[in-house]
Amino acid sequence: MTYFTFPEGFLWGGAIAANQTEGAYLEGGKGLTTVDIMPTGKNRWAIATGHVDSFKPIEGEYYPSHEAIDFYHRYKEDIALFAEMGFKALRISISWARIFPNGDDETPNEAGLQFYDDLFDELLKFGIQPVVTIAHFDVPLHLVEAYGSWKNRKLVEFFEKYATTIFKRYKDKVKYWMTFNEINMLLHLPFVGAGLVFKEGDDKLQIQYQAAHHQLVASSLAVKACHEIIPDAKIGCMLAGGATYPFTCHPDDVFRAMEKDRESYFFIDVQSRGEYPGYAKRFFKENNLTIKMEAGDEELLKKYTVDYIGFSYYGSRATSGDPEILKQITSGNVFASVENPYLEKSEWGWPIDAKGLRITANQLYDRYQKPLFIVENGLGAVDTVSPDGEVHDDYRIEYLRKHIIQMGEAIQDGVELIGYTSWGPIDLVSASTGEMKKRYGYIYVDKDNEGNGSLQRLKKRSFYWYKQVIESNGANLD
Ligand code: BG6
Repeated sequence: MTYFTFPEGFLWGGAIAANQTEGAYLEGGKGLTTVDIMPTGKNRWAIATGHVDSFKPIEGEYYPSHEAIDFYHRYKEDIALFAEMGFKALRISISWARIFPNGDDETPNEAGLQFYDDLFDELLKFGIQPVVTIAHFDVPLHLVEAYGSWKNRKLVEFFEKYATTIFKRYKDKVKYWMTFNEINMLLHLPFVGAGLVFKEGDDKLQIQYQAAHHQLVASSLAVKACHEIIPDAKIGCMLAGGATYPFTCHPDDVFRAMEKDRESYFFIDVQSRGEYPGYAKRFFKENNLTIKMEAGDEELLKKYTVDYIGFSYYGSRATSGDPEILKQITSGNVFASVENPYLEKSEWGWPIDAKGLRITANQLYDRYQKPLFIVENGLGAVDTVSPDGEVHDDYRIEYLRKHIIQMGEAIQDGVELIGYTSWGPIDLVSASTGEMKKRYGYIYVDKDNEGNGSLQRLKKRSFYWYKQVIESNGANLD
C-alpha cells in the first residue's frame, strides 16, 4: 500500500545522546558528569529528582553510562549501519564534559573536540546531516559541586563559552543545532534536566524556575552566537512533547489540561515567542516566586528566538480537575498522567497514542508557526533474539508505522515538518531507568541490565523495514 510521500529533503534518521551511548566515561580527558553518578536500581529515581548523597560513583553500584554501548570506540561501525538504512540525519549530543571537563576550564579539551570532528566527518562521508543537541542531560559534575549547577547564574557564562567553542569548531560541519534537550524535564527530573540538588527545607519551585530562567537566557545567547558564527545554520529548542487531554469534557478538566500543557509550553513560549507569558506571571505571583533577572535579559529573550521547534513524542497525557480522578495517576512515568482507558500501554506503562502525535504537532504549529522537527519517538520494549538468530520486533514496526502515518497526516494538515529522528536507532541505556533491556533500536546490542554481553550489533527486522521507509520517502510503510 502506498501512503503519503514526504516532502523532498525530509530528514529521516535517528536520535541518540552522548551519555546513553558513548561510554568511555573518563577517556580522552572527559570529566565526570551528572549522569555518571546515576546508578541503575532503586537509588536512581531519588538522584534523578535531586536527592544526591555522593558526588562520586559508589563502590558496588552499577553505572550504565560508564560503558554504555561503547559508541565512543564503535561509532564507525554504527554509522555504517545507519548509512545502510539510508539515514539522512543523525541526532547526537555533545558531552559538555568532553569539551570542558570541569565546565569552568580556561581552555577546551582538544581530544574531546577532535572526537566530535571525527564523528561528524564520518557522518558527512555518508551524506548524513548531524543534528546536534548542545546539552542532553549531562552537566559537568564539577559545576554541580562548585556552583550548584543551573541554580547559579554563572552557568549561563560557562554554557555560552561551551556553545561558542563548538559553533566555531564545527561551523562547516553542523547546520542543525538544539540548545537543551527536553528543557521542561527540569520540572520533573531536576537533577537530570539541570543538575539541581535539593536540601531539606529548600523552596524547590523557586529553585527550579530560577534555574529555568538561567537556561532560557543561556538558550538565547546560544541562538545569538549560532546565528553570528554559522549564518546558514538553524537552531531550535527541544520539548518533551505530548498533548494533555481532559479526562472528560467538564470545564474543570479542560482547564486543568490546558494548565498542564502550559507547564511545558512555558519554556517554548519564551524560547520561541521571546517573552514570559501572562499565565506564567500569574503562576509566579500566586506561588510567591520571584525570578531574579539581570538588566538586558528580557531584550535578549525577545531578540534571539529559536528557528524551529524540536520535540520528543512518546504518548499523550491525561488529567482531571477532580481530585478523586487524580488519584488514578499512573506511577513510574516521568510525566504523571491519569490513565486513558482508550489507549494501550507499553511494557513500561507508557501510553501508546499515534493520533496524539498528529494532535501535538498541530497544537505546536498552531501556537508557534515555526517549522517542527520530531527529534524523538519510539517504543521501548523487551526484545529477544530468537533461536534463528533474529529479532522479530514486529510490535516496534507497528508502533512506528502508526506514528509515521499520523506524521504524514499532520503534514497534510499544513504542519511544516523538517524531519523525523526516531529515538535510539541502536539499543542504548534508558534515561529514566538505566536499563538496557528497554530497547528502542533497529539494531540490537548484546548487553544486559547488569552490563554483561559482547556488545555485538545485530540488525532487527525493523532495520530492514525502516530502510524501506526511508528509501520510499515514507510512501512504503508495509
Ligand atoms: C527522552 C530523552 O526523555 O526520552 C531520552 O530525551 C530518553 O534521553 C527517551 O532516553 C526515552 O526515555 P527512556 O527513559 O525510555 O530512556
